[in-house]
Formats: sequence, C-alpha cells, structure tokens
Amino acid sequence: MSARLSFVHRYEPATEPERPPLLLLHGTGGDEHDLVPLGRMIAPGAALLSPRGKVLEGGMQRFFHRLAEGVFDEDDVRRRAHELADFVEEARETYGLAAPVAVGFSNGANIAVALLLLRPGTLAGAALLRAMVPLQRPPAADLTGTPVLILSGEADPIVPAANAARLASMLTGVGANVRHEPLPSGHGLAQADFEMVKTWVEAASRRN
Ligand code: MLT
Repeated sequence: MSARLSFVHRYEPATEPERPPLLLLHGTGGDEHDLVPLGRMIAPGAALLSPRGKVLEGGMQRFFHRLAEGVFDEDDVRRRAHELADFVEEARETYGLAAPVAVGFSNGANIAVALLLLRPGTLAGAALLRAMVPLQRPPAADLTGTPVLILSGEADPIVPAANAARLASMLTGVGANVRHEPLPSGHGLAQADFEMVKTWVEAASRRN
C-alpha cells in the first residue's frame, strides 16, 4: 500500500498505531526496500515509511550529491533536505501519521542530520548509523529535547572518529538529547547496532 507521492517509497501501515512511525533512509546504492526488515525488527508494529533517494551516482541511489567521498555538495544537501521534509509532510497527511523517528544508515543518516538542522519539527527523533557532519556551517536550529542516537564505528574508513564526535557535539549544542556510542566496528552494521537501536527506539517510543 503506497500512494503516488513526490518520492518513490514503500509504506507499511502500523499494526500498533500508538508506536511512532519510522522514516527509513537507506545508504548509497540502496533503495526503499533495504531497511524495511530492520524497521520491522527494531519497531514491530510501527508504521514504516521508506523513500528512495532521488540522486543517482554511477547508477547508485543517494539522497544528495557529493563531490568526493565525504565531500558534500552542500547546496544540494540543503535543497534535498527540504524536498525530503516536504515529502514527509505529504506522507503524514496521506497516511495519517505522527512525526516519524528517522533511522538512517550512512548517506541516509547524513540527510537525516540535515533534516534535523534545516527543518526542525519534521522528525520526532533520529537514530543515525555511521553518520557524519553534512553541513560545515550548520543553521541555528533549536532541537531542544529531540532524542538522537549516533552509532559510529571506531574503525570506520569513511567517517573519521573525530567527525562523528563533532556531529555529536554539534547536535548537543543545539539542544538535542544526544547519545553517542562508538562501536568496535567499521562502516558496516553489526549485531550491536541492531540491539542498541532497538532498545533506543523502544525508549524513544515511551517518551512520545
Ligand atoms: C555520504 O556520501 O553521504 C557518505 O560518504 C556516506 C556514503 O558513503 O554514502
């Protein structure tokens, strides 16, 4: 059941409507199906909204353009974040959803950070898996009390540990309720990620 909206997406309605919906944001080369099994596992019964990134890089789908690995086209980051926020509003109206909690991996986590900073109120919270700072000069946002989980990999060749730490302090600095856990892993996800994100989403659901 997916309506025709401004992003190709997959939507799974809630069987437990009191749970906050999840906005699932895939990594480079992924699509709208990628994180659905993860979403079902970490938030059974929650509505799942999973858009496909519109940018193509060598045939791989992403949520914004980059100039090189880890070097982002920041004008595009801004434009795409607003486009994605508009989609979330559209989907909330179409499907009757509360503000979602984002669960983003890699490029999907980076656009989730941009959503938090550029369109506060769009997300009820965000679990950022292997995220980095997407905007060198972030806007002055007020994210007071917004729950954010950052799971970074200590041996991640794409996201330097210092960048993940900078992201955590940037989001803390604008009031988000940040928990940052560096894990003994690389850029890929491991069992510890799944367990931590599930526990965090459950706690975030109780707060809502
Ligand atoms: C990005 O481009 O968003 C990051 O480098 C992560 C990725 O490889 O997608």
